[in-house]
Amino acid sequence: MAVAGGVAFSGDWTTCYRVNFWSRVASRVLWRIAAFDYKNEQDIYAHAKAVDWLKYFKVERTLRVNVTAQKSPLKSLEFVTLRIKDAVCDRFRDKLARRPDIDRTNPAVRVHAFLEGNSAILYLDTSGEPLFKRGWRHGVADAPLRENLAAGIIMLTGWKPDEPLLDPMCGGGTLLVEAAAMARGRAPGARRSFGFENLCAFDSRTWEAVKGEEKKKEKQPDLRLFGSDTDPKALNAARRNLAEAGIERWVQLERSNILERSAPAPGGVMVANPPYGERIGTAEELASFYPKLGDALKKKFAGWRCYFFTADLRLPKLIRLEPSARTPLWNGALECRLYEFEMVAGSRRKARPDPVSA
Ligand SMILES: C[S@@+](CC[C@H](N)C(=O)[O-])C[C@H]1O[C@@H](n2cnc3c(N)ncnc32)[C@H](O)[C@@H]1O
Repeated sequence: MAVAGGVAFSGDWTTCYRVNFWSRVASRVLWRIAAFDYKNEQDIYAHAKAVDWLKYFKVERTLRVNVTAQKSPLKSLEFVTLRIKDAVCDRFRDKLARRPDIDRTNPAVRVHAFLEGNSAILYLDTSGEPLFKRGWRHGVADAPLRENLAAGIIMLTGWKPDEPLLDPMCGGGTLLVEAAAMARGRAPGARRSFGFENLCAFDSRTWEAVKGEEKKKEKQPDLRLFGSDTDPKALNAARRNLAEAGIERWVQLERSNILERSAPAPGGVMVANPPYGERIGTAEELASFYPKLGDALKKKFAGWRCYFFTADLRLPKLIRLEPSARTPLWNGALECRLYEFEMVAGSRRKARPDPVSA
């Protein structure tokens, strides 16, 4: 079921382990513990203290509390966070005369509170570190995509593993790594630990069984993946990441400009995340780049489906091609689009004047 900021589902622990282990697009899986209405901080404290936290985790585990609010009448989220932390710790102290320590950077247990108007929900985080942290990213390039967003973009392109895939602005290689992992049936959570391992309900035998399912899903596709970038530092980062992810043998990387490079196959899927003026590339640079990109696609990529993920909503106008699809997506708080251009011979050029010289 779709809910604000996510989807809700119910299931047993096996389901929870599987979703954490296999979801390529989720950021975290939260376990709903309590829901209540409140008027002030004291109400929140009382409801949070009424939860039997000792049932959920041991006092030896370190703790962190996060609060997110929308239209809450309360003034200070920091104060609410402190009150919830106090409530959890006081509950332990009353029963055990001990309380869990707080660890903001690497907590064993995370409690999330979501306040919407006068309603509150408390969750325990079964993921721990957000799920886009997969454990393969060692090479650092500018403005990398989050892994779960990159996986979602690949899914939206409809790419099939028997098609060539090219990212001609590959940066640290996120889209290529995620595409290869998907095609090979590799679990995104295979190289990391999870928050649920620190909860009392943790059942290591069920967890081992879920991890064992990866072997059965493994595939050996004959992948044809291509990446290029103008920046040698980005290519080094990509090389490192592809090697960490164990997929370097399927990916041909080269240093080239998207405006000059040729298509590596007669047809396939191109997917790229051009700089969009927020973190790299100025708006003026991009305004003169996009028309050239449109020309390069028409000249060299007939037979390709091309996808561009960007927050620069001028792209379709400036590239002078008619997108065959435009999917709204969010990159954090930034509204973006995934534009699809089907490049066929004698392509869908827009009958409108050149916006740069107009
Ligand atoms: C937003 S980053 C891509 C990040 C990448 N998707 C990742 O997750 O790491 C944009 C990349 O485009 C590259 N770039 C910019 N202009 C280019 C051009 N004309 N040809 C090829 N690459 C280019 C930059 O060097 C940068 O690595």
